[in-house]
Amino acid sequence: MERRVFLEYLGIIGGLSLSSNYLMALDLNQDKSTHLKDGPPPFLLPPLPYGINQLEPYFDAVTLEIHYTKHHAAYVSNLNAAIKQIQDNSIKLDMASLMMMPDSISKDLQNKIRNNLGGHANHSFFWLSLSPPKNKPTTPIDPAQYPTGEDRWNVNNRLEKAIIAQYKSMEGFKTVFNEAAKSVFGSGWAWLVKDAKGKLSVGTTPNQDNPLMSTTVFKGIPILGLDVWEHAYYLKYQNQRANYINAYWNLINWEQANKLFES
Ligand SMILES: [Fe+2]
Repeated sequence: MERRVFLEYLGIIGGLSLSSNYLMALDLNQDKSTHLKDGPPPFLLPPLPYGINQLEPYFDAVTLEIHYTKHHAAYVSNLNAAIKQIQDNSIKLDMASLMMMPDSISKDLQNKIRNNLGGHANHSFFWLSLSPPKNKPTTPIDPAQYPTGEDRWNVNNRLEKAIIAQYKSMEGFKTVFNEAAKSVFGSGWAWLVKDAKGKLSVGTTPNQDNPLMSTTVFKGIPILGLDVWEHAYYLKYQNQRANYINAYWNLINWEQANKLFES
C-alpha cells in the first residue's frame, strides 16, 4: 500500500486513480503505461509543473532545461527501448512490478531497467517535489550566501512536526540531510523517507536507485529526494555541491512533501 502511494504520486501506474489534484493538473497519460501490447511507448516524459526559468536563481534555466529535456528524456527513451526487449509475457510492465527486478529478466536487461526506470521515476518525483521560490534575491549574490530556505517551512504541517520530534529542530534535520547529500560518492540521490509506521529516516542511494527498489539497501517511502548527480548542478555550481544543496532548500515544495507524509 505504501509503495502504491508513492507510485500514485508519480502518476505512472496505469489503471489507478490519481489521488492528487496536483497530478491531475499534470495530465499524465495513465493508460499507456501498463503493457507493451498497449504501445506506443508506455512511459512518457511528464510535463514540468513550472516554467523552465522559474526556479532561478537557485536552479538555473540552462541546467534545468538540459536536465529535463536531455537527461530525463533519455531515461524515458532508454527505458522504453529496454522493456521492448522483455520476452517474458508474464511480466507486468508497470513501474511497481519492474522495480522488483523479476528474475526471469536477464541481468543485462535488469541493469538497463534499473538505471532507466530509476532515472525516470526519480526525476518525475524530483520535479514535483520542487516549486518556485517565494523570495528571489533582487540582485545577483554569491551562491555561498543564498538564503537558508527557512521562509518555506511551515511548522504547523504534520511532516514538519514529525521532523522536529525526530531531529530536534528543522535546522537539525537540515544538517543531517545536507551531510547525507554531500556524502554521496559519485552520482546518486539523498532521501527523506518514511517507513510503514511513519518513522522518518535520511539516507542515500547510488546512481539512479531509489528506496523502493528491491535492489537497494536503504528503503522507505520517499518524502523528499535530491538529485546530486553532477548533471544537476555542475554548470552553475561546478564542484561546489554544498552550495547546490543549500540552494535546494529554497525550492522544496513542503506542501507536497506533507501530503506524501500524510497519505
Ligand atoms: Fe538528474
